[in-house]
Amino acid sequence: MALVFHEDSADEAAIIQSKQSVLAILTIEDDIQLFRGNRSNFADIIAAGADHGFLVYVVTVKQLKLRRKLLDGFTYDRDTDTWIGQKFPVPNLIYNRIPLREDELQPEARRKIAACVNHPEIQIFNPSFFNKWSLFKWLRQSRTTQPFIPATRRLLTAGGLGKMMLKHRFLYLKPVSGKAGKGIMTIQLQPEKTLPYTLKIQGDKGSTTYNCGTIAKLWARIVKESSGERYIAQQGIQLAAFNERSFDLRTLVQKNRRGQWDISGIGARVAGSYSITTHVPRGGSIEDPEKLLVSVFGQDEARKLLIKTRNTALIIARQIERGSRRKLMEMSMDLGVDQDGHVWFFEANAKPMKFDEPDIRKRSLDRIFQYSQYLLKMRGL
Ligand SMILES: Nc1ncnc2c1ncn2[C@@H]1O[C@H](COP(=O)(O)OP(=O)(O)O)[C@@H](O)[C@H]1O
Ligand SMILES: [Mg+2]
Repeated sequence: MALVFHEDSADEAAIIQSKQSVLAILTIEDDIQLFRGNRSNFADIIAAGADHGFLVYVVTVKQLKLRRKLLDGFTYDRDTDTWIGQKFPVPNLIYNRIPLREDELQPEARRKIAACVNHPEIQIFNPSFFNKWSLFKWLRQSRTTQPFIPATRRLLTAGGLGKMMLKHRFLYLKPVSGKAGKGIMTIQLQPEKTLPYTLKIQGDKGSTTYNCGTIAKLWARIVKESSGERYIAQQGIQLAAFNERSFDLRTLVQKNRRGQWDISGIGARVAGSYSITTHVPRGGSIEDPEKLLVSVFGQDEARKLLIKTRNTALIIARQIERGSRRKLMEMSMDLGVDQDGHVWFFEANAKPMKFDEPDIRKRSLDRIFQYSQYLLKMRGL
């Protein structure tokens, strides 16, 4: 993939005057690649924007100079498979796709994002990543969302962990800023065994198992494995399983053309064998949610469960937006269904990854611009 800068300066006055709806995809600069992020995703968003009458370009934190009339940015040329640097009008909408937490936490990124949030003529959506502990605090605050969240505590002391194990014999330990299954562990307590505690640690190639006899030993190992990261401890849910592999439901929730939260799609991820999570890079696979639910619960119950899952995801999205006190446009959610057909919330991602299901993918791109159109109309931008 080559990168080219246009030498000829464009007709700047014409660019500034064009009244087109303009959306900038915000990311972070990179010394070698010019900017970071999923380029094929950015190219798809630019193309979808053009279909909806939007001018879309990629802008880096450094390039985002809100007092200027023209900004440097990048567009994609499919014919030559090249990213081209050129001038663009200041956007009305900014879609935050900074790919890593640590990049988003850099002072310049924070300052620019805050400036966008406070800017009267710019709307930024998805101003930051979520952290797993905040999500649970927000969802505990409302009676509508309480029933869907597993018991969750911060993992701070051996004593606290012991107390939690009195109530729950199966626990998930997860880094608050984790993603893609990284750093996840499970604890199973079987009091009748000589070594009652079993700790499983998710590694890059399958999981490691550690058995021990006391909470003190368990704690020492957890401290070693968690390498300074902050963690939550969470009631483990016995997920419904297909061919003895557990699965969960990845739901994409976005605002629609009326500005309301809506389901763009539900996919299912089946865990790989020996994996404690369902992530595809860890041996998980993609499945049709209806097929999985029918195989476990039968046709009628499966249909009801899918409706319940959709409604649950919408209720949760509203509460997360309320809790975050930010304008959100989309999120993906990991939901689980247990063997009794109860729906559980595991986490939400403020920067959803591309869905591989083509129909969900198409709808997700369209919705970005349908909601953008709604926003522009509402705010007279
Ligand atoms: N409390 C839990 N009970 C059962 N399974 C869980 C629990 N928490 C997470 N999982 C499984 O692990 C996966 C990864 O957990 P998640 O919270 O989504 O972390 P990550 O940010 O690493 O994706 C979930 O999709 C689910 O399959
Ligand atoms: Mg997840």
